[in-house]
Amino acid sequence: MTAKIIDGKIYSARVREKAGKQVAILKSKYGLTPGLAVVLVGEDPASQVYVRNKGKATAEAGMKSEEIRLDVSATEAEVLEVVHRLNADPTIHGILVQLPLPKQVNETAVLDAIDPMKDVDGFHVINTGRQAVGLPAMVPCTPLGCLIMLKDTLGDLSGLNAVVVGRSNIVGKPMASLLLAENCTVTIAHSRTRDLPAVCRGADILVAAVGRPNMIRGDWIKPGATVIDVGINRIPKEDGKTRLIGDVCFNEAVEVAAAITPVPGGVGLMTVACLLANTVTAACRQAGIEEPEV
Ligand code: GUN
Repeated sequence: MTAKIIDGKIYSARVREKAGKQVAILKSKYGLTPGLAVVLVGEDPASQVYVRNKGKATAEAGMKSEEIRLDVSATEAEVLEVVHRLNADPTIHGILVQLPLPKQVNETAVLDAIDPMKDVDGFHVINTGRQAVGLPAMVPCTPLGCLIMLKDTLGDLSGLNAVVVGRSNIVGKPMASLLLAENCTVTIAHSRTRDLPAVCRGADILVAAVGRPNMIRGDWIKPGATVIDVGINRIPKEDGKTRLIGDVCFNEAVEVAAAITPVPGGVGLMTVACLLANTVTAACRQAGIEEPEV
């Protein structure tokens, strides 16, 4: 069997088109232009690429885009000052502080300084808690993108065995929480999990979010499973350039799974698209208006 490719280009185009149409309605009907601010501290090359892509996508959707760059030596107080200014800015509805932050800046302190209503990353402890107990919340973009693709591919997820490999606050934990809310039977596997291949073989839905290139092999996958590869690993090529590969050994997995996301061209595109969707949601909630139906 050769797996169906879950094409992130198609899904992300759909999400971005919807956000663009909603922005047009918000502008014409309410005079409201959603605004997103992205804060980058330092010059990490991967973060610079993400931030550039986010700014471009925001502008393309017709939103206001603000980019704030701070030196790698910025203090925690300086980062917090920027966050406080953005919290108070009525033209900014979404704030994203790109991670990782330099070591002198406490990540939790910065994330929890963001107004939860403007927390389009969904990393604030209030949003994490609200999502966990089933209240309306800002949901982290990458897991949200994965869930959209899973629901479209599989329909009702109820009762399926889902294994999430990786327990980060950005992907693993919120992904598990979202799958639980869809009535999956969820296992979170991690570096201390015993017999990881056997745990993965029990998965109808396998989400890989560990950041280790090609770690998950074809014979770890249950025939007919749906595989979501969140890994974005940059590895050197023979010609001295680099290429991106996932956490799943794609060539092997594609022969076993029923459906799989490629890297690149899968989950990564959905992260940016969902950020736009979250910014529209945040702008509507702050203005006290219903999200436009499109
Ligand atoms: N770094 C890697 N992924 C993310 C993300 O989704 N949001 C933020 N803020 N930083 C990241």
